[in-house]
Amino acid sequence: MVNSNTGQSNAGRSTGRGAKVVSSGSTASLDAIELLKGDHRQVEGWFAEFESSDDPMEKQELAVTICQALTVHADIEEEIFYPAFLAAVGDEDLYEEAIDEHDEAKDVIEAIEMLDDDEAAGGRLDALVLQLSALIRHHVQEEEQPAGMFDKAQKSDMDLEEIGAQLEQRKLELMSDEETDAGYDEAVGTGASPEIEEDDEDDTPAR
Ligand SMILES: [Fe+2]
Repeated sequence: MVNSNTGQSNAGRSTGRGAKVVSSGSTASLDAIELLKGDHRQVEGWFAEFESSDDPMEKQELAVTICQALTVHADIEEEIFYPAFLAAVGDEDLYEEAIDEHDEAKDVIEAIEMLDDDEAAGGRLDALVLQLSALIRHHVQEEEQPAGMFDKAQKSDMDLEEIGAQLEQRKLELMSDEETDAGYDEAVGTGASPEIEEDDEDDTPAR
């Protein structure tokens, strides 16, 4: 099962990957653009791993990891970065295009999370992850290209250090929520303690 909230056995290993997101994103000095670009590079790496893997279990874990990371990334952009961009730069076209692209990606993420094991094994997972990869590649290019949102943000008077700190804080909260959910469901499903408790103590600053 691909959905991280179903308590299937892959949830525990996927939270291990998720913990990596938290630890690698916890460098305090990243400005908003560095942080968001870091998210982009990380998920691109996972897409590449997915495409080169022929291990069905690993692919399911990667799909969960990718979906969780992209959900958090889209949330922090929509809650914090995009509104700040719109307020400072006033470019409604870029803003609305980015939101539309997120909505498209969220539909595919939802479809991945709804897959049952037979569908995933039958090639549907590959097809959907490939579709998601193409959408995200396009979205990343739009954000990072000259005269794209990141370029315009860097040339504006946005306080990218301060916004970076807000993004970082919110990202940690959302990652923690994702992992708590997965850990809780895993504990309910197996009677085992969720391993993520340890990771949280190691990687997540006190809140
Ligand atoms: Fe993005």
